[in-house]
Amino acid sequence: MIPQNNPHANYLGIKAEIDQAISKVLDGGWYILGEETAAFEREFAEFLGARFVVGVANGTEAICLALRACGIRPGDEVITVSHTAVATVAAIEMCGAVPLLVEIDPATYTMDPASLIAVMTKNTRAIVPVHLYGHPADIEPILKFAEEKGLFVIEDCAQAHGAAIHGRKTGTWGHAAAFSFYPTKNLGCLGDGGAVTTNDPEIHEKLIAARQYGWDRERVSRTEGINSRLDEIQAAVLRVKLRQLDESNRKRVRVAARYSECLSLLPLSLPVVLPGKTHVYHQYVIRLSDRKTRDTLLEFLKAGSIQTSIHYPVPVHLQPFYSDRFGRSGSLIETEKVCETILSLPMFPELTSTEIDRICDRIHEFFREV
Ligand SMILES: Cc1ncc(COP(=O)(O)O)c(C=O)c1O
Repeated sequence: MIPQNNPHANYLGIKAEIDQAISKVLDGGWYILGEETAAFEREFAEFLGARFVVGVANGTEAICLALRACGIRPGDEVITVSHTAVATVAAIEMCGAVPLLVEIDPATYTMDPASLIAVMTKNTRAIVPVHLYGHPADIEPILKFAEEKGLFVIEDCAQAHGAAIHGRKTGTWGHAAAFSFYPTKNLGCLGDGGAVTTNDPEIHEKLIAARQYGWDRERVSRTEGINSRLDEIQAAVLRVKLRQLDESNRKRVRVAARYSECLSLLPLSLPVVLPGKTHVYHQYVIRLSDRKTRDTLLEFLKAGSIQTSIHYPVPVHLQPFYSDRFGRSGSLIETEKVCETILSLPMFPELTSTEIDRICDRIHEFFREV
């Protein structure tokens, strides 16, 4: 079976370095928020071109803590998309805020800036654009809108480590940004991990306190906080993986290019890269004409030992927990059409040309048969 993603292959490729980094932590005897975390925060900040990075326990809490550090309080409204991991919306609710869900641009699957004005009310305080699948959201009009209306922008970069707009990395455009290091991400650890980035020293200080019981540097709790720390083993793993992030993103781009070349003449939509944007292909998502064709292709690939996935089969506003409050079928038409017709092909840096060709041959075979 060709898997849809393969963090194990990534580990095996750098096993000796990872094992050594983990042993160093084990032998060092300091396991939470130590030298490895501090070094990773510095190195990731340098990679991004951000002033500050604060390691936290996962990407969901990274979004929640970033919102809190920007002053978002219970009852405030935060705009995001329905076409995202449920985690984005769960994080907004975790900090007590009310999510407002908007449409996407069906070409890039990211937030449609034109949809912001219709949902905004006097209680709206922030926007969380998601750089989905590794393609940057249309951040410039979003920032312009936010500035005009006095809103904070917190980027969800869980799928966009190394993506960029005019050469400037995602995670450096908003007031703050949240990253996940879940194992399958472009930069993934071997467990849970996350980080918040910001260029603002005040937001940075608030994050330092918020991730650890509201402590200041003397361990006195002066503000509200939780426990959301990045541990030393994960930070050590991330330092090794960060050194090869550019290379593994280049490999993803090569995989994507080969797919696009092989599939270009078929009746399906391929990923687009808008001018000025650097796509890091967390996912390679194709779009079929209708749900039946998508579902049949998925089964056909599975029968040929090729695993695919759907990111995401049900938009957040139609998930049972959210549907009573956030909408009904037909309320976000583009989002719903997209969810019915997309398919994520296998995508990871170690995917070989032979495997890509086998996947493409199978897709060609499918279209010959239908
Ligand atoms: C777009 C998006 N946002 C947020 C998250 C949450 O990250 P985590 O799983 O580390 O909490 C994820 C990860 O699945 C994601 O893909």
